Parts: sequence; C-alpha cells; structure tokens
Amino acid sequence: MKIIVTGGAGFLGRHLVRALVSEGHALKIIDLNPNPEFATIIADVRDTQKMQELIKDADIVFHLASLIEAGESVEKPDKYIDYNINGTLSVLEAMRLNGLKTLVFSSSAAIYGEPTQVPIKEDDRTIPINPYGMTKLAMEGLLRSYVEAHGFSGVALRYFNLYGPEEHHQPETHAIPRFIEQIYQGEEVTVWGNGEHQRDYVYISDVVEAHLKALELITKEPQKYHYMNLSTEKPNSVMEVIQVIEEAMNKKAQIKHHDSRPGDPLKLYADASKAREVLNWQSKTDLTTGLKQTVEYFVKFWQNS
Ligand SMILES: NC(=O)c1ccc[n+]([C@@H]2O[C@H](COP(=O)([O-])OP(=O)(O)OC[C@H]3O[C@@H](n4cnc5c(N)ncnc54)[C@H](O)[C@@H]3O)[C@@H](O)[C@H]2O)c1
Repeated sequence: MKIIVTGGAGFLGRHLVRALVSEGHALKIIDLNPNPEFATIIADVRDTQKMQELIKDADIVFHLASLIEAGESVEKPDKYIDYNINGTLSVLEAMRLNGLKTLVFSSSAAIYGEPTQVPIKEDDRTIPINPYGMTKLAMEGLLRSYVEAHGFSGVALRYFNLYGPEEHHQPETHAIPRFIEQIYQGEEVTVWGNGEHQRDYVYISDVVEAHLKALELITKEPQKYHYMNLSTEKPNSVMEVIQVIEEAMNKKAQIKHHDSRPGDPLKLYADASKAREVLNWQSKTDLTTGLKQTVEYFVKFWQNS
C-alpha cells in the first residue's frame, strides 16, 4: 500500500516506519525533522496546500504528527491548538480534497483527565486536565466528524505511557527515559510523592503491532470509526519501574522524594478489551523485558556518543 506517515521522524514514527517498510509498503514520511534512516519530506502538516500535493495517490495516512508536552501546553495553549487541531484539520482537508479517506490517528490517555474509575474504559468521561489532552480529544472529534460527514474510515488509538528504545524527546519529560538517564549518570532521581503512583507502561513494539492490525481492520471495515485504548492493563508503580531499571543497569538510583503534584492521579491504567476484540491485539511485552531492552539501547547509545 502507499502510506503517508506524519510525524514519521519521532519516537513512535521511527519504529512504525521501520515496521511498515519491512511489510513491503511504499512510504512517504512527513515531518518537521528528518528521520535518520529513511528519506523524509520536511513539511508542516498545517500547510494544507503542501499536504494536498504530498497526499496525492496515497491509500492511507497514519497521523502521528503532534506537539506532545502536556506541561508546555498549559503555558502555550494557542500553540497546541494551532499545531495539533489546525494540523489535523489540514491533513483531513487535504485528504478530502484528494478523495483519500482512511486515517489512523495517535490519540492519548490524556483525553480522560482524572479517571472516575480504573481500569479506564473508552466510554468513560473525557475531561482533559491540560490543553494537550483537550487538543487530542478535539482531534478525535474532527476525525469522527469526517467519518460521519464525508464517509471517512478512522481509527483513533489511545496510547497510555509508551516507552522503549529510541525515545529522544526534546526536552524529555517522560519518566522512563529520564529515570534511565538519571540512574546512568548517577544523578538524583526525582520522585513525586511516595512513588506509589501507578501507570500503564506499554512497550513500543506492541504499539507498532497495533498499528499494523489497525491497517488490516480499516481495510476490511471501511467508513467506520473505531476508538480504543492501547494499554497493558497491568499498572506498575513508579518505584517498581525504578527498581527494574536498577536491576537492568546493575546500579542503585539516588532517589529524592518531592511533594506530590496536584492533579496526579494515584492510579491510571486502562481496560484494553476493546482492542482485544476489535483489533485482536494485546500487549505482549512485560515491564522487565521492555525495560531491559530500553536500558540496553540507551547504555549503548551513550557509550557510542
Ligand atoms: N509518547 C507517548 O507516550 C505518547 C502517549 C500518548 C500519545 N502519544 C501520541 O503519539 C504520537 C507520537 O508520539 P511520539 O512520542 O512519537 O512524539 P514525537 O514528538 O517523538 O513525534 C512527533 C513528531 O511529529 C512531528 N511534528 C510535530 N508537529 C508537526 C507539524 N506541524 N508538521 C509535521 N510534523 C510535525 C515532530 O517533529 C515529531 O517528529 C503523538 O501524536 C503523541 O501525541 C504519544
């Protein structure tokens, strides 16, 4: 198939692109930055005219491009609305104008905000607690409206905490790569509260597999809208994560506890039965295996750089 991947130079993008290429698909990668391994078209998804030219003759779009920092979105909501919501609208419009109607979208656990119950189910209430989450909810809403109004086919995959090799966000605010770096460098490891907060850490290759299954689903069942959690259903506490990293690295963490952050839910994990039923997907990689591979990657990366 001819596939467009927006955001194909990012953390998930690099893994997804590799998997799609190895499945024999023809790819066009669109990003503001280059993918280090594959030819990339440097373009901004907000540029609808450019997107219209690029999207011509494609079969499907994986729309990953997004700003992703919840904290920054609180300071700069206008930037998030522009990049994320206008960016998604631009992609959808470019597709509509080209008669291309199939899109898989990177959504997020952030759409739920503070859960009223765990495990979180897809139809639980969605009240985001930061503009990033709000934009993801709006992006889902836009996709759904194109399914209803224009006969699009859409899948919104709501990832929980992704982790794995090659996670290099700038700045890095995600716990796992920060902990790995802090432990490796012998720096203080910041833990909010007592570290018993539980999160649902899902390994990158499992999430990539879900995208390949979403491609099958959307091809089999056109003109439908699907939305589902991608999660392990097995929450782990921050202290458990640190302990597994310590074991994988054979080094003790210098933990410093700070006051809990307001609005940081104690338990945040999701029910994945919809993904099991509809996509025939479930997360396979346990935390110990996933963290071991992630630690190995980062240690090699730092030793060679
Ligand atoms: N990493 C996670 O834990 C997580 C969790 C839930 C959802 N998500 C979503 O998954 C997707 C991928 O996440 P990631 O961790 O790979 O993020 P990332 O920041 O590594 O990748 C996003 C990519 O999008 C590109 N991009 C941003 N704005 C663009 C624009 N206007 N035009 C073209 N390219 C643009 C960036 O340059 C970057 O390469 C995002 O949509 C994110 O919101 C990620």
